[in-house]
Amino acid sequence: MKIYKAGIIGYGGMAGNHEKVMRVDYDRMKLKGIYDIAESRLNAAQEQGYHAYSSREELLEDPEIDVVIIAATNEVHKDLAIAALRAGKHVLVEKPVTMSSEELEEIMEVAKDCCGLFTIDQNRRTNKDYILMRRSVESGKIGKPYVIESRVEGSRGMPAGWRTKKEQGGGMMLDWGVHLIDQLMNMYNDKVVSVYCKMFSVHYDEVDDNFRMTMTFESGLVAHIEVSTNNYIKHPRWYVLGTEGTLVINDWDCKGEIVRCLDKDNKWGVEIAETKAGPTKTMAPRSPETVQTFELSAPEDVTDNLTVVYNQLLDAVEGKSELTIKAEQTLRVMKVMEAAFESAAKDEAVKVNI
Ligand SMILES: NC(=O)c1ccc[n+]([C@@H]2O[C@H](COP(=O)([O-])OP(=O)(O)OC[C@H]3O[C@@H](n4cnc5c(N)ncnc54)[C@H](O)[C@@H]3O)[C@@H](O)[C@H]2O)c1
Repeated sequence: MKIYKAGIIGYGGMAGNHEKVMRVDYDRMKLKGIYDIAESRLNAAQEQGYHAYSSREELLEDPEIDVVIIAATNEVHKDLAIAALRAGKHVLVEKPVTMSSEELEEIMEVAKDCCGLFTIDQNRRTNKDYILMRRSVESGKIGKPYVIESRVEGSRGMPAGWRTKKEQGGGMMLDWGVHLIDQLMNMYNDKVVSVYCKMFSVHYDEVDDNFRMTMTFESGLVAHIEVSTNNYIKHPRWYVLGTEGTLVINDWDCKGEIVRCLDKDNKWGVEIAETKAGPTKTMAPRSPETVQTFELSAPEDVTDNLTVVYNQLLDAVEGKSELTIKAEQTLRVMKVMEAAFESAAKDEAVKVNI
């Protein structure tokens, strides 16, 4: 088995995650060295026993490096990816792949003439909560889904630094929106026909620290996506309405349930029900024998780890399978995010064909 050698450009928080996974969990690819513009990060790499390259060119010219992982800040992804592809390397770029769809198209154009493969770290396609939601919906227990609500909510604001700066691709749409949109577009390979988004900059001037976005697929399915950074009481991670039931997954720990309706013909009596909300027929509670409840828990067969992203790249390099994280897919996600920015600026829904 060939053991691939990786070089990382941009050795911050996420690169530390790559370093750990390659050191602890992965045999097929090992980290050789690092390049970062910050001397402190080069020193840290050296102290950990990695080669610290004095320039990005030095890393890219190292013939031992097979795969370049780009984990620098977003505004430099495009130039770094193009340079690495031109140097003949396979390239894995962190999300968001670029600052815009135009930048991504530039990389894709260059990649056509290069021998290396180009993929993106859309690692949240392997998250257990997402796979549990997807499998549960696909099981048909809730009938045909018509609304999927996906939320990620924190209460500690955004980390200081580039995530708060527009010119470096800060803000929650590019940081988390990119994952949540990618998950749903990966689940439904269906055209997106409309996007409506409200963005809020509650505690930061330049970028969105909260957003609420509604995207509609051609089939009519509506996805509602929310990201918040100052939300002290959380909604469930997933809430899905289907024609025959409802699904909820509360958090990353995957605890949740499906409630499936057993009697589809509503049998209304003449009398109105007395509830805590006063007299009502429509909102009266349903009797327990008319529903079936399925408990949900974390799928044990799912590996939620960067190794899945590495494997799809190395399998494609070895001709065993195609890349599963393709630039064309992330291009569609970038376009949806651009429609969300446009919608937020105009305060109206944007018709699209993505
Ligand atoms: N896939 C995920 O789940 C995930 C999670 C976190 C971050 N990320 C992504 O990883 C990237 C880095 O995020 P982070 O949280 O590690 O940021 P960070 O600020 O911790 O690290 C970024 C590093 O890049 C370096 N850098 C900047 N410009 C450079 C250049 N031109 N050449 C070399 N090094 C350069 C900085 O000095 C810094 O050390 C971002 O694109 C981010 O969106 C992905």
